[in-house]
Amino acid sequence: MHDTLLLFGATGDLAVRMLFPSIAHLLRDRLLPVDFRVIAIGRQDYSAEQFRQWLGPRMQEIAAKELRGGDLELLLPRVDYICADLTDPTSIPRQLGFARGRHCVSYLATPPGLFIAITQGLKAAGLLDTPSRLVLEKPLGHDLASAREINAAIRDCVSEDRVFRIDHYLGKAAVQNLLALRFGNTLLEAVWNHQWIESVDILIAETAGVDGRDGYYATSGALRDMVQNHVLQLLCLIAMEPPSSLGADSVRDEKLKVLRALRPMRVDEAARDSVRGRYASGVVESRAVSGYAPPDGQDTETFVAVRAEVDNWRWSGVPFRLCTGKRLSERVTQIVVSFRPVSHWLFENPRRERAAPNRLLIRLQPEEDIELGLMSSLAGSEWGALELQPLSLDLSMPRGGQRRIAYERLLLDALNGNTALFVRSDEVEAAWAWVDSIVAAWSQAQLPVLSYPAGSWGPDEAADFLPGTLTAPCRTDRSRR
Ligand code: BG6
Repeated sequence: MHDTLLLFGATGDLAVRMLFPSIAHLLRDRLLPVDFRVIAIGRQDYSAEQFRQWLGPRMQEIAAKELRGGDLELLLPRVDYICADLTDPTSIPRQLGFARGRHCVSYLATPPGLFIAITQGLKAAGLLDTPSRLVLEKPLGHDLASAREINAAIRDCVSEDRVFRIDHYLGKAAVQNLLALRFGNTLLEAVWNHQWIESVDILIAETAGVDGRDGYYATSGALRDMVQNHVLQLLCLIAMEPPSSLGADSVRDEKLKVLRALRPMRVDEAARDSVRGRYASGVVESRAVSGYAPPDGQDTETFVAVRAEVDNWRWSGVPFRLCTGKRLSERVTQIVVSFRPVSHWLFENPRRERAAPNRLLIRLQPEEDIELGLMSSLAGSEWGALELQPLSLDLSMPRGGQRRIAYERLLLDALNGNTALFVRSDEVEAAWAWVDSIVAAWSQAQLPVLSYPAGSWGPDEAADFLPGTLTAPCRTDRSRR
């Protein structure tokens, strides 16, 4: 296991909120090497002591819920600080030359615009020599062209097997369980195709707003911030073919095929197959919040719904409704797989059109659970005819152990050199290629960004993209595509 983490962007929100708390948890659980050190790198002119004095209170301010007594005392003595100008590739060899020869993992928690300069600086400093590794935080670029440029520059500096592109959703235990659920069960695999599945809904709803990330978010929006990565990774795990093994490349090869099979959006379908929204002021979790106004009148969306099609044998004709938004009514991440109706309906009550579809609901956040929705009989002597009712079977495993931050698992894997839960360069590019088709279709169709009140489920026009399970236990309306 590598014992030195070079953390670029160490004063940023992600580092303070997620990465340092994750390291503290791993230290607490004694999962890191005894000599483990974090070398934090940032632009601020701090000494190591000044940085530690800044970091402790800052973590207590914005990451208090992740901290337990004693965490900071474990973490802070392991942290050093180096001030470097990350835009200048000569600065890194000058400032970090002392780390040459150590087994380093360089973690770039910076905007993607700095990835190339930092990687070149690390190479010049000898900090990417085998066996050192490079971790890149999302987003990897802004579109296909910029992602290709970054990937090409990185390829010149370090081999792909030592590059770890983060999508933190892959570090969530519930997301890894999707593989277990799909490929550990004969029953599911037998019906996992267009013959039996009518539609798939993937929803990531957040109550949080853009909150302090205005600069980044204004040029990103929900499509690039969430769909290009997290939503598409969930789609891949639902739609991929069974890999021949759980080896990193076997799984990534299958995910790549799904991404490449996504049908690009056409201009004339943009209005039918997608909705963009932006939250206005409203009330979320009983708190009044203001709306989001991107700078310079940009048309950034904070909500997006897209009807996607995977053009292959297994999924032909099955709509994948993808939806994500900020400042929505509830924080929930869920996947709903709805099955086709039975071919011949025998029952008087309810009538065929009112029967709820069988469905599998996989909830990933805030709680992890799995429900199978069936129809079952209320058979009893008092009933004249057999009457069916929706029945929900709880398939969740009893929860054991503490829930970990997704980054804990990903940091451990990067330090151990296990690439399975990281995204390969061709996956990133295939995802951008599809997202670019949507951006182009929106722009040519001049698709408007519709307003929705904070605390709602997005613009009214998006109702058909949202899983009916949010408002009713089993939706009976089968008219949605
Ligand atoms: C990040 C996005 O990748 O994921 C954020 O940049 C978003 O905008 C976050 O809030 C959501 O992650 P989670 O784990 O809270 O669902």
